Amino acid sequence: CGIVGYTGPRQALPLILEGLGRLEYRGYDSAGVAVLDGSGVLHTAKKAGVLSNLETYIDSGAIALEGTTGMGHTRWATHGGPTDRNAHPHTDTSGKTAVIHNGIIENFPVLRAELEHSGIELTSDTDTEVVAHLLGAAFAAGPTAGDLPASMAVVCRRLEGAFTLVAAHADVPDTLVAARRNSPLVIGVGQGEMFVASDVAAFISHTRDAIELGQDQMVVITPTSWEVTSFRPGESATTDYRPFRVDWDLAAAEKGGHEFFMDKEIQEQPQAVEDTLRGHFDGTRIVLDEQRLGEDELRTIDKVFVVACGSSYHSGLVAKYAIEHWTRLPVEVELASEFRYRDPVLDRDTLVVAITQSGETADVLEAVRHARRQRARVLAVCNTNGSQIPRESDAVVYTHAGPEVGVASTKCFLAQITANLLVGLALAQARGTKYADEVAREYEALLEMPAAVAETLTLMDPVRQLGRDIADSKAVLFLGRHVGFPVALEGALKLKELAYMHAEGFAAGELKHGPIALVEDGLPVVVVTPSPKSQPLLHSKLLSNIREIQARGARTIVIGEEGDETIAPFADTLIELPRVPALLQPLVATVPLQILAAEIARTRGYDIDKPRNLAKSVTVE
Ligand code: G6P
Repeated sequence: CGIVGYTGPRQALPLILEGLGRLEYRGYDSAGVAVLDGSGVLHTAKKAGVLSNLETYIDSGAIALEGTTGMGHTRWATHGGPTDRNAHPHTDTSGKTAVIHNGIIENFPVLRAELEHSGIELTSDTDTEVVAHLLGAAFAAGPTAGDLPASMAVVCRRLEGAFTLVAAHADVPDTLVAARRNSPLVIGVGQGEMFVASDVAAFISHTRDAIELGQDQMVVITPTSWEVTSFRPGESATTDYRPFRVDWDLAAAEKGGHEFFMDKEIQEQPQAVEDTLRGHFDGTRIVLDEQRLGEDELRTIDKVFVVACGSSYHSGLVAKYAIEHWTRLPVEVELASEFRYRDPVLDRDTLVVAITQSGETADVLEAVRHARRQRARVLAVCNTNGSQIPRESDAVVYTHAGPEVGVASTKCFLAQITANLLVGLALAQARGTKYADEVAREYEALLEMPAAVAETLTLMDPVRQLGRDIADSKAVLFLGRHVGFPVALEGALKLKELAYMHAEGFAAGELKHGPIALVEDGLPVVVVTPSPKSQPLLHSKLLSNIREIQARGARTIVIGEEGDETIAPFADTLIELPRVPALLQPLVATVPLQILAAEIARTRGYDIDKPRNLAKSVTVE
């Protein structure tokens, strides 16, 4: 989500709307504003859909929004569909406290139950609304009564998960309080005016002096002051924040200083994996986002079909290895457009997992409808809350990657693999093919992955160099075995999409049965190698495959595990990745292939965010 707040001498509304316009890439499910007028009344306006819906509503004059302190939000739905009533800001029962939020509050079911128990009626399905009520109550009575910053600190201490929050109270003029944990927040320091926002793009046409807040910090802004404190228990003073001057132009600011959205989205992958895992384990069990399907029904499933297109399909191929291993259920992964028209064998004990970033791909939607007509159960893995495919499914796991602007999928692909694995664990748990402690261990291994992906990202300079070196090649081949095979397919797809270069992914063992005829002197061949420790047999088979192509003159680019000394002699270029569990290797091994494709495309002078002939979501069959 995108967040912006302003307090100063000018009318807040136009500044907020301008900021939201620059943050719309962060979400466009709904938008809303709250403005404090001079007489201490809080006015809000919010509308589902893109920002222009809100602007049209405001322009109609339906609501007065005059005032010099206010906040705005553009939403990417996590909890609760993209509707008017789920749009931010959220207010408490008194209508005096307004809150906007970016992130996921994991313990919101507990807080919500507590509020409902005390007689408060919640008016939305969001995790955010609980914060408005808690903050309103802390300000109204008790030890923090009348003190908005102290009330905010008390409330933040109760929240688990990720949040950037901005709050205003009708009784506290010319003031905004903002806080952050695991989600971004920057202050914009102007001349006699102050901004807060999720990123600098929101305010750099007004000020370039910014302060980035640290973890678990909050700030109180007035037109002429800002004060940063910590909300950790027993801690208040802090100097652990970072003032900086923004030297990006406006276009670069939206991209976090990167040249393309895709570069930024590649860097956001650790966060995408982390946010997708967030809130899916309650201490003993895996929990899905939406489940209109009981555990009993999950238990009787005897077959799984995964249907998807493009990169989403590859994420399904990756997950097949883990789901079969964990659940002992047969898993077939199929392109949605093929599945739909070949009369697949389905019944009420079949689970169809539909993986789709957009939630609206026509091929997938038709596959889902076909499956439901055969009375199969459908579970969607989707990045877009409230989109058509989740609406027509029996259960949903959301990939909390945030909006992906680059047409070629990157962070959503990693988030999809993560979510698919959660589906596998949920099935294993329902069927009892894994004990609770085993499920917990697998989940803990997943929790290590954001750090492994982040480490991988620091090792990518040689990959960029390689991309520049081979940018003139006619073609590139990609090879892998086991989970490395779908990684090879994804690497080849990325290169086709971005660099318009002929690229093919093959199962390394299949090479000798035909494709090896393609190998000629100097042809770059990328090989995804398994761990010699956890998969010694596969590893040695792959070494033989590398020898076969090296003997025929290929330029070998070997992706391997750090410390694997056996592969060095076979690699013209060796790219080392951190060691991770075998089934999770695609989460790190895909990263160099994304960067390779992007760098080749960049060297060839292409727009990597908008490759020719492609669309982000394809709503025709
Ligand atoms: C389009 C995009 C691909 C994407 C595929 C599936 O073809 O260009 O990048 O992988 O659709 O999209 P979905 O939204 O269903 O994941």
